[in-house]
Amino acid sequence: MKVEIIPCLSDNFSYLIHDKESNKVSIVDPAEYNACDDVIKKYKKLDFILNTHHHADHVGGNLELKKKYNSKILGFELDKDRIPGIDILLKEKQKYKIGNLEFKIIFVPGHTKGHIAFFFFKEKVVFTGDTLFSLGCGRVFEGTHEQMFNSLNKIKKLPSETKIYCGHEYTKSNLDFCLAYDTKNTFLKKKEIDIQKKLNSNQPTIPTILDQEIKTNIFLRCNDHEIKHSLGLKDSSDLKVFSKLRDLKDSF
Ligand SMILES: [Fe+2]
Repeated sequence: MKVEIIPCLSDNFSYLIHDKESNKVSIVDPAEYNACDDVIKKYKKLDFILNTHHHADHVGGNLELKKKYNSKILGFELDKDRIPGIDILLKEKQKYKIGNLEFKIIFVPGHTKGHIAFFFFKEKVVFTGDTLFSLGCGRVFEGTHEQMFNSLNKIKKLPSETKIYCGHEYTKSNLDFCLAYDTKNTFLKKKEIDIQKKLNSNQPTIPTILDQEIKTNIFLRCNDHEIKHSLGLKDSSDLKVFSKLRDLKDSF
């Protein structure tokens, strides 16, 4: 499984997936036609378009790419009226195979009501859209804080070596937020050095590894006593801590 990172718009990531054995080509969340097509052209085909959710900066290239390559568009069944050009309606926990690559649908509502993640379980690769970012998580637009919290916990339970490909390069601002509220985290300080190196050389900070996120992403650390204490929520539930952090980040 080869994954090519395609920076799009101001801070989006689209991803091209190539299965060499079957020569199947797919793209996850084509934010815009031109940047995606520049990469797709090398393969001269695009079999599938996979959408994590309906937002314009994730489906912007759908119709033009479908028209040019006669691709099939896959999205969650709840978003059948909101994902442009959708052909194949996916269900929660459904498995789907493209060539030799098989993935499972993880339903992760919160950012939107119909958000899904694509988990390639043999390769241990997950595309999280706007649910889990490196050191952050998506804003809660259509769902509730509890839904988002539960969705993040689903991703947290994947194998710790899972590679995470997310929808945006938000890592620097997420890092600043984590540093502000998780001041004693030594793993975070190590990750800061690694992130700065990548950003200084204009490299994407993606993919990140789940194990690292669990140690450094404050939204996956709502059970941490130091964090609870620093927020004045020593005896509160993990969900309450998550909600507080999400609200703080919205105005950070
Ligand atoms: Fe979004």
